[in-house]
Amino acid sequence: MQISVIGTGYVGLVVGACLAETGNTVWCADVDQKKIDGLKQNVIPIYEPGLDALVERNQKAGRLNFTTDVADSIRRSEVVFIAVGTPPDEDGSADLRHVLDVADMIGRSMKREMVIVTKSTVPVGTAAKVADCVGKSAQYSFHMCSNPEFLKEGAAVDDFMYPDRVVLGVDSDHARSVMAELYAPFVRTGKPIIFMDIASAEMTKYAANAMLATRISFMNEVANLCERVGANVDLVRKGIGSDSRIGPAFLFPGPGYGGSCFPKDVKALVRTARESGACLRVLESVEAVNDDQKHRLFQKLQQAIGPELRGTKVAVWGLAFKPNTDDMREAPAITLIEDLLQAGSQVAAHDPVAMPEAKRRLGNRVSFAETNYDALSGADALAIVTDWNEYRHPDFGRIKSSLRRPVIVDGRNLYATTRMAELGFKYHSIGRGGTI
Ligand SMILES: NC(=O)c1ccc[n+]([C@@H]2O[C@H](COP(=O)([O-])OP(=O)(O)OC[C@H]3O[C@@H](n4cnc5c(N)ncnc54)[C@H](O)[C@@H]3O)[C@@H](O)[C@H]2O)c1
Repeated sequence: MQISVIGTGYVGLVVGACLAETGNTVWCADVDQKKIDGLKQNVIPIYEPGLDALVERNQKAGRLNFTTDVADSIRRSEVVFIAVGTPPDEDGSADLRHVLDVADMIGRSMKREMVIVTKSTVPVGTAAKVADCVGKSAQYSFHMCSNPEFLKEGAAVDDFMYPDRVVLGVDSDHARSVMAELYAPFVRTGKPIIFMDIASAEMTKYAANAMLATRISFMNEVANLCERVGANVDLVRKGIGSDSRIGPAFLFPGPGYGGSCFPKDVKALVRTARESGACLRVLESVEAVNDDQKHRLFQKLQQAIGPELRGTKVAVWGLAFKPNTDDMREAPAITLIEDLLQAGSQVAAHDPVAMPEAKRRLGNRVSFAETNYDALSGADALAIVTDWNEYRHPDFGRIKSSLRRPVIVDGRNLYATTRMAELGFKYHSIGRGGTI
């Protein structure tokens, strides 16, 4: 099939490359000239395992093309995916400006009957708005499809190639059969394609992210309570996660959820509810709990090295909002670093891949270390924010000799508390009662 994917970010680039991998001819279009110039040279603008090989192979084979000429990519296509950003507006609702700009362009540029797919995460009713917008200038018939994306950054290629399920909200048999054909190669192991109406598909994406965010905030509150009552959240997590009604995923406590999706999607769903005269009380609490949790590591540092942090230095390991990505949108590390800087502390940070992005965001207010051990030199404490694999089995002797005080505040519970005590560290983790 001839396909265009408009918006070549984390989602659009993965979608485009994976659809090209199954033999389609794909045009990835973006308004960002620098990004497109780089992609033409196989320079991948994000860190995403496996994506570079996929882009290079398919570009070389002529199936994957990059362009800033959005209109031309639409003219060539029978299916167009809208994968532009939907950042939060000032009131928390999803800003649909980019989506509707693209819709307008589709209406003016299409040259045949098309299926128009909203891949961006958009509130219920957006596909209808897109259809209205396209319809103003369209000369050909078109069909709408809402196809929310569930990929996880850091495992995005695998998630797209081997999805748990594909959700497709459609408004016609034509859209249904085109989309079923397009996705057939990705569901050969029997994973379901779930067809539904468009509004339900739009809601499914928000409900999924809201549920996952809820599990995280719930476990963070349980962890904080564990600390007070002397229980160990790691054991509680295993105890409840082995219940088949609950399951083990997304029960890890930590420094609060971040990333480009959970924070904005929770906000947007809360806003949708408010606009429709309802109130999602659980979700409003999920957000409030998360906002507090993002300050938890700072509070633990104050407990560990004293309430007055002015003049201290803290080493921070991990800047990305999770491992295997360089995405720092809403990352808990940003909250911690801002808290530390405001308190007059110096910060020396390390991340295996997110340092260029961190430099862009934080500038020279923070010093960036080439290795994780370099960050420790002369620091009063080490704070671990992201659970990168390389931080799991460090050289503890080296850590202890580099730090001015043997203090570790671990937002990811990477180490055994007994071992850390034996090694002589003052080790503060999340929700492991009796050890803070
Ligand atoms: N990042 C994720 O893990 C993830 C997962 C599932 C769904 N989503 C959703 O997918 C959507 C895209 O997210 P993302 O993380 O890829 O965003 P992103 O910010 O990484 O990329 C968006 C891209 O769209 C481009 N763009 C903006 N306006 C444009 C226009 N008019 N024409 C062409 N290109 C334009 C931007 O230049 C940018 O490259 C969002 O709605 C997001 O909520 C994201």
